[in-house]
Amino acid sequence: MHHFLLLLLFASPTYAWLPMEDWGSGNVTATVGESGQCICHVYLPDTTFPADRVGNAEVSSNKLAADVELHINKLNIFKGQLVILLEELKNLTGRVEVLESGPDKYIKLEFELLRIELREFEALVTQLKTSLNSSSPAFDSLYIEIRNMSLIVDQLESYDKSNLEVIRIEFAKLQKKLEKCQDRQENFSNAEIGSCKHGGILRVGKPVVSQLNANLASNYNYGGWGKDSKPLPGFEQMYWYYAYSDRQLRRIHVYADYYSLIMRQTMKTYELYINTAKDWQGTGNNYIVRGNTFYYQYRNPFSMAKYNMTTQTAVYRVVPKASNRFSYHYSPDQNLDFAADETGLWVTYATEESRGKLVLGKIDEESFALAEVWETTIFKQSVTNAFMICGILYATRSVDTHTEEIFYAYDTHTGKENYVSLPFEKFQSFYVNLDYNPTDQKLYMYNNGYYVSYNVKFKSA
Ligand SMILES: *[C@@H]1O[C@H](CO)[C@@H](O)[C@H](O)[C@H]1NC(C)=O
Ligand SMILES: *[C@@H]1O[C@H](CO)[C@@H](O)[C@H](O)[C@H]1NC(C)=O
Ligand SMILES: *[C@@H]1O[C@H](CO)[C@@H](O)[C@H](O)[C@H]1NC(C)=O
Ligand SMILES: *[C@@H]1O[C@H](CO)[C@@H](O)[C@H](O)[C@H]1NC(C)=O
Ligand SMILES: *[C@@H]1O[C@H](CO)[C@@H](O)[C@H](O)[C@H]1NC(C)=O
Ligand SMILES: *[C@@H]1O[C@H](CO)[C@@H](O)[C@H](O)[C@H]1NC(C)=O
Repeated sequence: MHHFLLLLLFASPTYAWLPMEDWGSGNVTATVGESGQCICHVYLPDTTFPADRVGNAEVSSNKLAADVELHINKLNIFKGQLVILLEELKNLTGRVEVLESGPDKYIKLEFELLRIELREFEALVTQLKTSLNSSSPAFDSLYIEIRNMSLIVDQLESYDKSNLEVIRIEFAKLQKKLEKCQDRQENFSNAEIGSCKHGGILRVGKPVVSQLNANLASNYNYGGWGKDSKPLPGFEQMYWYYAYSDRQLRRIHVYADYYSLIMRQTMKTYELYINTAKDWQGTGNNYIVRGNTFYYQYRNPFSMAKYNMTTQTAVYRVVPKASNRFSYHYSPDQNLDFAADETGLWVTYATEESRGKLVLGKIDEESFALAEVWETTIFKQSVTNAFMICGILYATRSVDTHTEEIFYAYDTHTGKENYVSLPFEKFQSFYVNLDYNPTDQKLYMYNNGYYVSYNVKFKSA
């Protein structure tokens, strides 16, 4: 009997295990090693060791040896990151304690954010733990630390406390690190960035709540945030954001990177309105940034507009037949919805001719005109939002106050439509901006004033 040891690679937390390789007629068992690592025993059953199978066994033996080495390396890197995380969390606990002893101005919002982020960490660690299926001490202590911090934050809230900027900086750092861990996991199973060699959406992950909007205004319900879907060199990490308490679009803010976004350190604000000098304002909230250009619904005349942030000028084009009578379910003024995917730039709308059914147009970026148009069979006012991935339109609807569902898919390659059911969690019941970004395969949602994002897991091709 040949006996191999193989460390299990960890699959993405919310997703099922990847199928094990086909081990022929052998069998596989898993145990937990001394230091908490998963050990996978592979038994090849040929006790009689027939000569004709020796060759095969040797080949798989070599392959296994290479796999083992690869997986050990991956696990070691991962463990190293956990140790760092743990250190930082300890440090953070210390800082929370310091705050506890120095009463000052009380900022409710900051506490709220802290709690949201702690809850996120907690969920993530739980997921990581489950996916590794081991009782690793590193995970246990990480989990306890986070739980403990949640309690401390709860206690802190009942006191008068000083500004929590320092803690927020630490949280931003931590969050980045946790994101990295998450990325590492996703990489094991997801399609490569930019690739469409997959079978469409398998599921949408848990909502990751990054921050209340940069204006720190809880009534700024109308807005959007995200990343450039085709960034110019040097702007790969840039984020954009705009929100207001009404649906008029006045300006757009950009941030150098995620950290600046969270810290509300604007890199630049582009004004679409300056007294009588210019008025390039928009309405609705289904705008995006692509190639350092802001695509949005122009206010007057009703049309699609692009504001080039490089030249700081806007141009607009009337979308043939597009009607401003059919908005999405959650909010008025959402007549033109821009989207970008691996294949280009899109706009969805409805027409009188389609009797309010959703129409999809591919925008030729060079001429800023519609190149091709598809008509779907779904009534736009019953849809809450739509986005594109790899030339497939996905439409969402509301299930209840906590649940949203991707219920419809239209494939522009085949002209075929499909009713699907891909539920995902909403942070709060109402949102106005949802878009996919092909540069990181995430969904970005502006949900009742909060920045929310989701990982997307694809079916294999
Ligand atoms: C798996 O291998 C073990 C050890 O050789 C053996 O006891 C067990 O019966 C095998 N199970 C199956 C399903 O082949
Ligand atoms: C902990 O915080 C202090 C600042 O108070 C910093 O100097 C130190 O590098 C931090 N340690 C870690 C491991 O982050
Ligand atoms: C996790 O381990 C337990 C026992 O250690 C086992 O029963 C269970 O099937 C494992 N789950 C997965 C997903 O491997
Ligand atoms: C949790 O916090 C309390 C008080 O802040 C502390 O005494 C305790 O040691 C902490 N526990 C862990 C496991 O960190
Ligand atoms: C995950 O994949 C992306 C894109 O392929 C890559 O940039 C990133 O470095 C990978 N992350 C890890 C941890 O390997
Ligand atoms: C924006 O303006 C720059 C500079 O003129 C130009 O190179 C770029 O193509 C423009 N982008 C778009 C999307 O029109």
